[in-house]
Amino acid sequence: MQKLVEEIQKLKKERNAVIVAHNYQLPEVQDIADFRGDSLELSRMAAKSHAKVIVFCGVYFMAETASILSPDKTVIMPDTAAGCPLANMITAEDLRELKSRHPKAVSVGYVNTSAEVKAELDYCCTSSNAVKVISSLKDAEEIIFIPDKYLADYASKKTGRRLISWDGYCPTHVKILPEDIIRSIRLHPKAKVIAHPECASEVASLADEVLSTGKTCEFVKKSEAKEFIIATEVGLVYRLHKDNPDKKFYPASELAVCPNMKRTNLEKILWALEEMKNEVRVSDEIRKKAKKSIDAMMSIG
Ligand code: 13P
Repeated sequence: MQKLVEEIQKLKKERNAVIVAHNYQLPEVQDIADFRGDSLELSRMAAKSHAKVIVFCGVYFMAETASILSPDKTVIMPDTAAGCPLANMITAEDLRELKSRHPKAVSVGYVNTSAEVKAELDYCCTSSNAVKVISSLKDAEEIIFIPDKYLADYASKKTGRRLISWDGYCPTHVKILPEDIIRSIRLHPKAKVIAHPECASEVASLADEVLSTGKTCEFVKKSEAKEFIIATEVGLVYRLHKDNPDKKFYPASELAVCPNMKRTNLEKILWALEEMKNEVRVSDEIRKKAKKSIDAMMSIG
């Protein structure tokens, strides 16, 4: 593995590339990355980076978002088959039809959507700023929120706004059941429970905190607690252990493994860099429209 790591490092310099990895990536991929983060942190990083090439280790919509924000950079994915089933649960046509039934509604969409869907939205949001985006829409008579029904439910409860939602969900997060949380609390009574807002509402309501992966990292670092039950994709536990070696982390369910996030490995990163293959690019027309919804989110902070 060391040889592979050295070859990647060498080629990365030659190509003026930066490797970014989502918090759910395999340990060796997180370790080789220049930057790790949640969806919002990775989008910001892609927009700011001075590198010519971004090697995006995550799922397709994340690389697409990086390309929308940085069209002058070459965004490559080690494995473009790493999709997001939640993002695939709504098409641009579905959203246009929903908007036509609610012509006065402001439309907000989770970043886990295709570029075509983002092009139809007024606002994009991520799990770390969904509540903030909804709260900012004081004058909106109606708000559409797609595609994750559980994030919609959580944001609706937090803001007191009724949201017109979509029947989408993350197949990995729904594997975490309320009984997993109850059992984990019985085994680790001192641990704080942190759930991702993509978890089912019954799971989120049992948590002490409902946070994005990036906010979970921040919270754990600052917390006085020493033990944490983590209700999200298991990959985050590696990052938490690494950043906080004195604290203990218990995944709420070992079944919460995203097969798409695990498609990227070191061999594929090296091939992508060697051959500069698997470029992710969005047509100019879609990119300009989709960027408006992302910029609208960024302007909220
Ligand atoms: P975060 O933005 O919290 O990292 O979530 C991304 C995601 O796709 C969760 O499944």
